[in-house]
Amino acid sequence: MSLTRLIKDVLRKPESIPTPGAIFYNATVSKVLRKPEAKIANDIVTKMGKGTIVDLGSGTGYLSIEIAKKAPSLRVYGMDLSRQMVKIARRHARGVDNAQFVFGDAARLPFKDNSIDLVVSTGASHHWRTPRLVFDECHRVLRIDGEAWIYDGCPEVFHTPADRRKLHKEYGFLIGRLGYRVSTLHGFSREEYQTVIRDMLEQTAFRGNYQMALTDIWMKITLKKRM
Ligand SMILES: C[S@@+](CC[C@H](N)C(=O)[O-])C[C@H]1O[C@@H](n2cnc3c(N)ncnc32)[C@H](O)[C@@H]1O
Repeated sequence: MSLTRLIKDVLRKPESIPTPGAIFYNATVSKVLRKPEAKIANDIVTKMGKGTIVDLGSGTGYLSIEIAKKAPSLRVYGMDLSRQMVKIARRHARGVDNAQFVFGDAARLPFKDNSIDLVVSTGASHHWRTPRLVFDECHRVLRIDGEAWIYDGCPEVFHTPADRRKLHKEYGFLIGRLGYRVSTLHGFSREEYQTVIRDMLEQTAFRGNYQMALTDIWMKITLKKRM
């Protein structure tokens, strides 16, 4: 697929989720993603017990809140470009003092240079209008050796009947049966990750310091800030 076609496809989708979409998302998709996102939260708290984390495109806040609850010494900032999502996330976070939600664009992060230990993002990168700027911002705010874990859809996760059966068993009908189609519409193919997205990453400050791997229901891009 060409870069022009990929950009056109991304532009067809709204960047921030509008209010009715956010309310719908809170009642549906966000609940379906809880189980796989709980695994990500576990991986994060296993890796680090204290520090500061930013969740880009935090949506209804489930992942940020889960991380904050599991590790009270971590400070978690969820950030979203939809005011309604931020409102919903703040409501969910009542009583969880180490999780905070801010409205804003992932391409302009309100954090100081070298101040963040880990950036995480789930299901949001296919919405970003200026992904190169987002990656460069992640690089700017991360401490040396800090990482960004960017998870998004990839239909190849659901490629074989055995893959679908396994995910159906683990996560139920919606992910097992509809995951392929949903991640075709809300993510990128493996080929796009390995060509267009790789080429774009090579133009960011993370050049040469990233890996991609099919992980659970996602493609995970791990980016590392080196000296
Ligand atoms: C599909 S939702 C995923 C929400 C959440 N991470 C989850 O896994 O349920 C994508 C979110 O990214 C947000 N978003 C899109 N572009 C953004 C940007 N440039 N900066 C911050 N948030 C953004 C949208 O408003 C939306 O809430």
